Amino acid sequence: MLDAVRENGVEGDVIFACGPTPMLRAIKAYAAEKNLECYISLEERMACGIGACLACVCQSKEVDHHSHVHNKRICKDGPVFAAEEVEI
Ligand code: FES
Repeated sequence: MLDAVRENGVEGDVIFACGPTPMLRAIKAYAAEKNLECYISLEERMACGIGACLACVCQSKEVDHHSHVHNKRICKDGPVFAAEEVEI
């Protein structure tokens, strides 16, 4: 997908993406390279879906007010995050 974007000179101001983690990782890197605003959906990792089990956490830059560590609960805090806000 990114090859097609590059080959066709597609331009934009913001990226919204969902899909497999390797693709989101590549899109996040592309957005950083192009200095584009980027939002990604991490909805693939869910268990309880109500913020109780912590099975869906991902690493984040900010400290989560619930767990007091650098985590975000995807089900409660997302599932859409600014790409630079989370580690994938
Ligand atoms: S799925 Fe249980 S806390 Fe998110």
